[in-house]
Formats: sequence, structure tokens, C-alpha cells
Amino acid sequence: MKVIELKDVWKVYKPSESVEVPALRGINLVIKKGEYVAIMGPSGSGKSTLMHIIGCLDVPTKGKVFLQGKDITTLSEDELARVRGKTIGFVFQSYNLIPSLNALQNVELPLIFQNVPKEERRERAKKILERLGLEKRLHHRPNQLSGGQQQRVAIARAIITNPDIILADEPTGNLDSKSGEEVLQIFDELHEEGRTIVMVTHEKYVAKRAERIVKIKDGRIVK
Ligand SMILES: Nc1ncnc2c1ncn2[C@@H]1O[C@H](COP(=O)(O)OP(=O)(O)OP(=O)(O)O)[C@@H](O)[C@H]1O
Ligand SMILES: [Mg+2]
Repeated sequence: MKVIELKDVWKVYKPSESVEVPALRGINLVIKKGEYVAIMGPSGSGKSTLMHIIGCLDVPTKGKVFLQGKDITTLSEDELARVRGKTIGFVFQSYNLIPSLNALQNVELPLIFQNVPKEERRERAKKILERLGLEKRLHHRPNQLSGGQQQRVAIARAIITNPDIILADEPTGNLDSKSGEEVLQIFDELHEEGRTIVMVTHEKYVAKRAERIVKIKDGRIVK
């Protein structure tokens, strides 16, 4: 079953009236349910742009995007947000945790948007943080955690809604090799659970964890 399908997807940024930046130039891509795919390519080749479009954080200028068979290019902002909340877990290179909230509160956040009752939220957040080895860090704020711990909190936040698709944009980019390995181990487990994983990386040894490597250059998929 196709979980993600892009048909001739273009993204042209217009930072000002007279400037056009074609970041994606006709991307065709199919990712099947449960696949683990790595996206590689030079800086500026369009990897993050591609991830944002798959993750419903941005819309293409042209072309079609299907998530679990549903055309998302016709959806309103609200509908996109709903699909994103239900289907996608996003992990960023720089963690993107909320500094004023502790680990537990950061992880609970997506459930607040889904109106999950407080006690259930707490329970679920705790359980996931425990699973990721952070049971002694529940009440630490991001600046009281190491990079690897922050990334594990960010992964917990990404998976608390039980998303079918996990998108990770250089999740190990800021980590030392030991913390990076721990994060990759978590992705291996999520893959074994049957989730679909798409991960951007600059590192060959990281990309080798995936089943398939997609290379992108100047906004196009290359062999
Ligand atoms: N919001 C934006 N407005 C204008 N141009 C943008 C915007 N975001 C990205 N770009 C441009 O689009 C191109 C692709 O950017 P993108 O961030 O997707 O690259 P990338 O492959 O993720 O690079 P990196 O490996 O450095 O993260 C680049 O030329 C970039 O300058
Ligand atoms: Mg990028």
C-alpha cells in the first residue's frame, strides 16, 4: 500500500516580487507502508522542503501529494493541520522543544490539541518517556537536558499521537555518535513496529539504516 505519493511536485519560493527559487522541480516519489527511506543530497538541494510538503507543513506550488491515498493538495489550512496531527510525527535536527515546558509537558502537547483528558495525557507521556529511557528526566526543562536527551523527548512528542508516518530531518545532525546511535536505535524499533519512516541525513552510515536511499540534487531525484 502506498502511504506517500508525490506526483510531479514543484515548490517555487518567492522571497520577493522579482526572485523565484525553484526548490523542488518535478518530484515523483512513492513510499510504501512500513518502508524506511533515507533522503540524501547536498545542502540546498530541497530535502527539508520535501519533508515539509510530505509533512503537511507546506503546500506545493504545483503537483499532487497523496497521504494514505488522500489528496492533501486541495485541503484547507485547518484540514492540513488535522491530517498532520493524526498521521505525522515530525522530528527536527534542533529538537524544537518549548523551553519553558518540562519534558512531560512538551510530550503532552500534541494530545492537548486532540482534547485528550489530562490524566490520560500524563499517563501516555510518562509511558513513552520511560520507554525512551527518560523516566528520571520527566520534570527537566530542555536546557537541563543533554542534546541526546532533548532529541529523545522530541521523538516522544512525535510518536505520542501514534502516527503512521515519522518524518525526521537530520535527527542525529547535532548529536555525538553515542546519542546518535541511541536515536537510530529508536527509529529501528519504530520501523519494526510497522511505522513508515522518512529520514533526511548527510551521513552515509546513517542512511544505511534505511531500506532505501533516495538521492536528491537541485530539486530533482537522481539515480
Ligand atoms: N522559505 C524560503 N524562502 C525562500 N527560499 C527558500 C526557503 N526555504 C528554502 N529556500 C531555498 O530553497 C532551496 C532548498 O532549501 P532546503 O532547505 O529544502 O534545502 P536542504 O536540502 O534541506 O538543505 P540543508 O541540507 O542545508 O538543510 C535552497 O536554495 C534554499 O535557499
Ligand atoms: Mg534541510
